[in-house]
Amino acid sequence: MSKKIVSIVLALIIAVVFIGCGGGQKSQDTGKGLIGVVMPTRSEERWNKDGEAVKAGLERLGYVVDLQFSDDDIPTQVRQIDDMITKGVKVLVIASIDGSALSNQLANASAAGIPVIAYDRLLMQSPNVDYYVSFDNYKVGLQMGDILITGLNLNQATTAKPVVIELFAGSPDDNNSVGFYQGAMDRLQPFMDKGVVRIPSGQIDRAVVGTLRWDAAEAQKRMENLLSAFYSGSEVLDGILSPYDPLSLACLEACKAVGYGSTPGKPLPVVGGQDCIVASCKSILAGEQYATVLKDTRSLGAATVVLIDDIMQGKAITGLDTSSYNNGAKIVPSLLLDSVIVTKDNLKEAVVDTGYHSASEIGL
Ligand code: BGC
Repeated sequence: MSKKIVSIVLALIIAVVFIGCGGGQKSQDTGKGLIGVVMPTRSEERWNKDGEAVKAGLERLGYVVDLQFSDDDIPTQVRQIDDMITKGVKVLVIASIDGSALSNQLANASAAGIPVIAYDRLLMQSPNVDYYVSFDNYKVGLQMGDILITGLNLNQATTAKPVVIELFAGSPDDNNSVGFYQGAMDRLQPFMDKGVVRIPSGQIDRAVVGTLRWDAAEAQKRMENLLSAFYSGSEVLDGILSPYDPLSLACLEACKAVGYGSTPGKPLPVVGGQDCIVASCKSILAGEQYATVLKDTRSLGAATVVLIDDIMQGKAITGLDTSSYNNGAKIVPSLLLDSVIVTKDNLKEAVVDTGYHSASEIGL
């Protein structure tokens, strides 16, 4: 009798395990299919929102999503993509860490017939990239320049008293950094040429002013070094070009540490940013960071979901930009969204009223 119970229980366990591994997996994958989504890191606010937006949108349409974050570690990202290819994902969505480091994985995806979407950051030096969904990175750069033009009133600046700024750029291995910096410099260069904007460090080259992996600690260190090397006398820093909110906040910290914002004649420098993170919204409301650029991750996620669904249904994909993004091996058809400058004046309307952050999150 007890033997009979034991064998019934065993049979049940085997059945459950079998359904869990084989049957369950199979029924999960049928229908709309498994989609692989890789984001660079959980440690930056935006990629969590991006990952969530893509996953939730796909799940609403009935897809199963394997969402992974790569800890800003290239071997981890490589392994995650390899695993997804092995699992047989139907489409791969990749926000890379280093855009040039995944060529083998992209070749394997192509060999397996898996379409690849470069998400936000272009995948470089590979013919095996099917689409690029992002914001118009050059326009984002123009907005970064416009923030300084307005915040520092550059149109009124004179050669008698030039406005003093320092420049920061994004990670050199992220192709977006090129567009951001190019756009910003296209706005700022005319003022530098006229002699109404001055850069005491003389550091302008993108390779020199870049910030590997967008690391705020590295930017803070560089800002501290600039302040002690070029601003220890009477020189006062008026503004900072910064392509990313955590870098902006880190630069402001370095400035505060040497008396900016608390010494007469040394107000906090005007600094913009990007991503509209909660901490920067608070800083903007407190009158410290001057502005940021909002790239609504919900829209990028939604556009990606529509693209994936169209690919899966075999629909013709139309309305793409087929000239702007050459990754070194091909021009990648791109879907480019618009971004918005956020200052204290429009923060409620652009961020809270649209539901990007709640009033309570940003302390409004
Ligand atoms: C993204 C930015 C982000 C930065 C750091 C860039 O590729 O476009 O939105 O601030 O990476 O994560």
